[in-house]
Amino acid sequence: INEGKQKVQDAIAGRKSAMEEAALNEQLASETVDVTLPGRGELPGGLHPVNRMRRRIEDFFLRLGFDISEGPEVEDDFHNFEALNIPGHHPARAMHDTFYFPDHDSDGHRMLLRTHTSPVQIRSMVEVASKDAGGAPIRIIAPGRVYRSDSDATHTPMFHQVEGLAIDKNLSMANLKWVLEEFFTAYFGTSVKTRFRASHFPFTEPSAEVDIQCSFSGGTVKVGEGDDWLEVLGSGMVHPKVLQAAGVDPNEYQGFAFGMGIDR
Ligand code: PHE
Repeated sequence: INEGKQKVQDAIAGRKSAMEEAALNEQLASETVDVTLPGRGELPGGLHPVNRMRRRIEDFFLRLGFDISEGPEVEDDFHNFEALNIPGHHPARAMHDTFYFPDHDSDGHRMLLRTHTSPVQIRSMVEVASKDAGGAPIRIIAPGRVYRSDSDATHTPMFHQVEGLAIDKNLSMANLKWVLEEFFTAYFGTSVKTRFRASHFPFTEPSAEVDIQCSFSGGTVKVGEGDDWLEVLGSGMVHPKVLQAAGVDPNEYQGFAFGMGIDR
C-alpha cells in the first residue's frame, strides 16, 4: 500500500512542478522587453550656452599652444589671495565678497570658494617650478566656476571665468595684446577694436582692463561696431611677488595673465 501511495504522491508532485514551470514561462514570455526597439522620441539635450562658449574659447587657445588647466573650486586663502599679493588687510579682499568655510585646512589656511580663477596661476607655476628648477615656459588657460556673495540683476553668486597665463623669458605687454586681439577676432568672427585701459590688480603690474568696441541699441549689443565700449577682462604682467610666491625666479622669467568672464 505504501509503495502505491508513494507512486501517486510522486506523480502529483511532478505534475505540480511542471504546471508551475509552465505558468512561470508563460508569464516571462508575456513580460519580455525588446531592448532592440527604438526609444519613444526622447528629445536630445543641448549644451548650455556657457559651455558652448567655453569650448570655443578652449579651442582657440589650444590652437595657439596653450594647455587647459583646472584647479579646485574649494580653495584656501593662500592660493586665492596671499600668493596673489592680496594680504589679509588688503581692501581687494572686501571687493571679492568671499564665501568662507568655518574650517581651516591642516596648514591653518582658511578655506573658501574661489572668487576668481587666478589661484590656478599659482597652482600651475608651483607645479612647473617644482619639476624643473626654472618654472617656465608655461602657457595655460584655466576655465571654471567662481563664486562671490553677490546677487542682483547682473550678478549671480556663481559665474564662470577663463584665466590665461603665459610665463617665459621674453614676454611683454605686446604679446598679451596680440594674443587677446587674435582671440577677439576669432571669437567674434570680425576684427574688433580694443581699448587697454590702465587699471590695478595686486597680482599684475602694469595692469589693464580690456574693453571691446560695441554698440548698444534697441536692447541688443553688437560687437565690432559703434562707439561704445564693453569691458570684457582684466589683465597685466604677472607681479614679481607672485612669481616669487610660486617659486619662479622673477629675474629670469616674466609673463602675462588675463581673466575673462564667460557669462556676460
Ligand atoms: N582675477 C581678476 C578678477 O577676477 C582678473 C584678472 C586675472 C586680472 C588675471 C589680471 C590678471 O577680477
